[in-house]
Amino acid sequence: MENQKLIASKARTPIEIVSVATRTPARARGRVPQGCRISDDCRVSVDDPETDVVVELTGNVPVGRELVLRALGNRKHVVTANKALLAHHGEEIMRRADEVKRCVLFEGAVAVSIPIVKTLRESAAANHVTAITGILNGTSNYVLSQMSDHDADFATALAEAQRRGYAEADPALDISGEDAAHKLALLASLAFGVPINLEAIDFEGIQGIDALDIAFAKRLGYRIKLIAQARKESDGLVAGVHPTFVPMTSMLSQVSSSMNGIAVQGDLMGSAFLYGSGAGGRQTASAVLADLIDLSNRYDFDFAGGAHNMGFRHGPRDAKDSRYRRDRFGACYLRLRIEDKAGVLAKVSKALADAGISVDELLQDGGQEGQTNLVVVTHDIGSGQLIEALPGLQAAAGLGHPAVVYPVLGDH
Ligand SMILES: NC(=O)c1ccc[n+]([C@@H]2O[C@H](COP(=O)([O-])OP(=O)(O)OC[C@H]3O[C@@H](n4cnc5c(N)ncnc54)[C@H](OP(=O)(O)O)[C@@H]3O)[C@@H](O)[C@H]2O)c1
Repeated sequence: MENQKLIASKARTPIEIVSVATRTPARARGRVPQGCRISDDCRVSVDDPETDVVVELTGNVPVGRELVLRALGNRKHVVTANKALLAHHGEEIMRRADEVKRCVLFEGAVAVSIPIVKTLRESAAANHVTAITGILNGTSNYVLSQMSDHDADFATALAEAQRRGYAEADPALDISGEDAAHKLALLASLAFGVPINLEAIDFEGIQGIDALDIAFAKRLGYRIKLIAQARKESDGLVAGVHPTFVPMTSMLSQVSSSMNGIAVQGDLMGSAFLYGSGAGGRQTASAVLADLIDLSNRYDFDFAGGAHNMGFRHGPRDAKDSRYRRDRFGACYLRLRIEDKAGVLAKVSKALADAGISVDELLQDGGQEGQTNLVVVTHDIGSGQLIEALPGLQAAAGLGHPAVVYPVLGDH
């Protein structure tokens, strides 16, 4: 309603809101265009013969799945911002869209103000994408920025993120890394032309991050960020969401507060970096409206490609290229609490050498009462190799404390 004239000037087929559904219709009254029907049952809108496009914004996975499949069954296009829905049921939904030759658009589902879906689908279409690396969760980024830049504690920073409206209704999704994993599952599928595969994505959240590691990161020239990365390697894909040491020289390390940033690397385009708001009602509305305008301009096109038109590929794939593997290769940050006495450092060094771990940087500090912290930044190493070496390293450290391990972001 707000930008009506502008939107109308850009949409080849006029966009009219004919029906709105909410469980609390009173809230919608007076806020919808004249003549628009209001119902407390989404199925009324989805089954309405006058509706060509269904916009699904419930944020609920089972409800969203039912509505979207029903809309496609009624041969209606769908615009959704529901990343959890697509991460869990995207394959089923896109296959159905293909069958009925309808489109499912979801620019609002990932990093709302950043046109990353369109970038992958259109601008990078001629590329073999080699890596996509992003800060995809505004809440986690806000919390980490507050902890790093203002020495806030975790609980205070999270409460402030909720107060500012950055957090999902259930902030556990943000903090655990799961929300970023949902988004990465969609981006990896678009970037690499593989099925949406949430199970293939390891995710780890920011809830356990110690202020000590934030301080060590700064001393070593890094910022800790919740990084979602999907990368093509010679023998498959690696995708995960982890708190990561990001070099301060990297643009991703400059993405602060609730902002999002995404780096895309392709064989022809080289590197691109996109930056913008990752959340917000108006921002999500902007992305949803862009999808509606996009649809209106394609309306007299042949939709025979269905989901394929939107960047999804369901045809046969090279099995090797679409295989995910868990082992990631790269530098790591390792912090061990060790006994502060002669000979312990030598034992740890021997354990590192025995495990074939080569050291790039080493720092010892922050100890108390006969203990100290030994911080190692390794050269590139397989994550599996490092995990195997941890019991030996912890034994050499002599205190029985579990090691703290985070990946270090390399060139992307
Ligand atoms: N806000 C953001 O920053 C943001 C960013 C990116 C993506 N998104 C995505 O955008 C979508 C909407 O987000 P939001 O923040 O606007 O969520 P929200 O404030 O929870 O709004 C959800 C809307 O859906 C309606 N609804 C929920 N279940 C329903 C049902 N069973 N039947 C009918 N209506 C139902 C709710 O109205 P009633 O309660 O009255 O039914 C409400 O209007 C979600 O998928 C979210 O993940 C949001």
